[in-house]
Amino acid sequence: MIPNARTLAVAGAAAAAVLVWFGLQTRSPGAVTVPAPPGPPAGAAVPLHAAVGNTGCMSAACHGNSAAKALSGTFDASTWEGSGTCWAARDPHTRAYSLLTDKPMRPVRATAAQIMERMHSPVPATEDARCLACHSNPALAARDSKDPHVVALRQEGVGCESCHGNASGWLRPHTTWKADTKAEYAAAGMTPLFDVGDRAATCLGCHVGAPADPERGIAVRDMNHDMIAAGHPRLNFDFAEFHRELPKHWQEKERTASGPKPRGPEFDARLWLVGRVAQAEAACMLLASRADRAKAGDPRTPWPELAEFNCAACHHDLPEPWRSEPAARGDRPLGALKWQTIWPVTAGAEFGAVRPVVTAMQRARPAGYGEIGPLAHQSAAKLSELRQNLVGAADADLVSRSRQAFVGGVGGNPEWDTDGQVLWGLAALQRSRLIDRPAGEFDRAFDAVRRRDWASARPLLDALARP
Ligand code: HEC
Ligand code: HEC
Ligand code: HEC
Ligand code: HEC
Repeated sequence: MIPNARTLAVAGAAAAAVLVWFGLQTRSPGAVTVPAPPGPPAGAAVPLHAAVGNTGCMSAACHGNSAAKALSGTFDASTWEGSGTCWAARDPHTRAYSLLTDKPMRPVRATAAQIMERMHSPVPATEDARCLACHSNPALAARDSKDPHVVALRQEGVGCESCHGNASGWLRPHTTWKADTKAEYAAAGMTPLFDVGDRAATCLGCHVGAPADPERGIAVRDMNHDMIAAGHPRLNFDFAEFHRELPKHWQEKERTASGPKPRGPEFDARLWLVGRVAQAEAACMLLASRADRAKAGDPRTPWPELAEFNCAACHHDLPEPWRSEPAARGDRPLGALKWQTIWPVTAGAEFGAVRPVVTAMQRARPAGYGEIGPLAHQSAAKLSELRQNLVGAADADLVSRSRQAFVGGVGGNPEWDTDGQVLWGLAALQRSRLIDRPAGEFDRAFDAVRRRDWASARPLLDALARP
């Protein structure tokens, strides 16, 4: 939610004070001028595997058959025949590239041209790797913007290869794969999206952001405060919720040694917990990359990056005394900004790995990039390990850990950002249908969270906390 004009007007004075307070740590005054050309030099990074484009997948004999069944919500062993058709018919990612042009396929609050003008960008969004990296195949963003073949591929938006990986290495062999192992996928450059952790990491690359990956020719994906102040919506994501919203073009199944196995309702709890961990990991990787780039003196990477922090830490009315009270402040020193609650719910025990970063970011004077960089790298590595362990965890273990993590993360913090995350978590746990509580109890809890009436949500939270 973007702050309204009055809040911002009031926050102007507060923000100015904050910037003085950042003092010498601040290398950029947060101005929206971004002159240098985007990402890695054009044409420098050639991806290991070349992009083929959607048409390579869409013939009627491959994935361009009828999608009538998938589109009406029925999935079976032949769903794959219409996967491409399903994407073309209904997937929101078909619109992604159009948002960078003057013909967006849906109404927008700020057009790309307005955003670019406010950033004083010398090039249009369709030629800027910073924008292309999320609004088309990320592995093409750093390539020469004038090459007509590359431009044509980008116009497909976030197409098949944006998620499945560039196809030159797997297009032929994958038609005869039997076992579908990760080794086979890795060798051919196909992303193993059947692994829920890898799937989450793939989505988060664009829905939170990610460092550059020169080996795959991927430019940095960084939604910073400059872009947000210029009119880009801030990114708000919950893997379980967005996964539910994405029209499925596949039959959901687990790859096991004895063949594909359908997923049960507990899959939603798995999506939620794995998604939370992957999201904290993505946030740490992005922070580490920002610190590394600031350290290297990149003129386009301001430090500290304002988008790392809770927006309402600066954008709020001045007379809000509750902000300094212990219930809202937790263990933060007076005046310290809260680290991006909009991304991970980090309070649960499951998220211990991220604590060092939270503590360093939430000092009265946040740590400098020299200190944050290594801490964020370490936390990301630990979270990555946790994510991989969770993917392999047994259902019963996973469900009880989701419940613990959820209850541990509900802090009663009077904040809309946290509440939004809590509602999504509650919805995922309800969908998982493994918590034997009457539906009315969930409804009452949803309502209580919306009213921030934590006492009324307690009965359900207590039930969730019991193993
Ligand atoms: C880290 C990934 C990322 C980057 C970088 C990025 N975008 Fe986006 N963009 C998104 C996502 C995701 C959405 C959809 C957000 C939503 O629905 O809340 C979006 C939405 C938009 C919209 C629709 C705005 C509206 O009012 O609904 C426009 C226009 C846009 N982007 C332009 C740009 C431009 C121009 C750039 C480069 C300056 C850019 N984007 C960079 C991910 C990104
Ligand atoms: C936003 C990311 C995304 C995009 C874009 C995307 N896919 Fe997928 N696709 C997935 C996910 C996630 C799965 C599930 C993976 C699994 O379980 O193995 C999947 C599964 C599939 C499957 C397996 C179907 C089945 O029932 O086993 C096929 C085939 C497929 N996609 C084809 C395509 C084609 C063709 C395109 C482009 C027209 C495309 N996908 C675009 C994310 C994506
Ligand atoms: C290459 C970048 C990229 C990847 C990878 C990606 N997305 Fe997106 N996604 C976008 C952009 C850009 C938009 C904005 C499109 C729009 O709003 O028109 C978007 C929009 C969406 C929307 C619609 C949101 C809305 O408010 O209507 C959903 C849902 C979504 N993505 C889910 C996913 C999931 C789930 C995955 C992983 C399986 C994924 N995305 C992977 C870039 C990406
Ligand atoms: C550390 C303080 C701070 C934080 C945290 C912060 N901002 Fe800002 N914001 C500012 C300042 C200062 C400005 C004015 C300078 C500028 O435009 O960069 C501003 C400007 C803006 C503007 C442009 C307003 C206008 O009228 O031009 C928007 C929109 C905005 N911020 C949104 C956000 C969002 C969304 C977040 C959270 C992701 C956020 N801000 C986090 C300090 C902050």
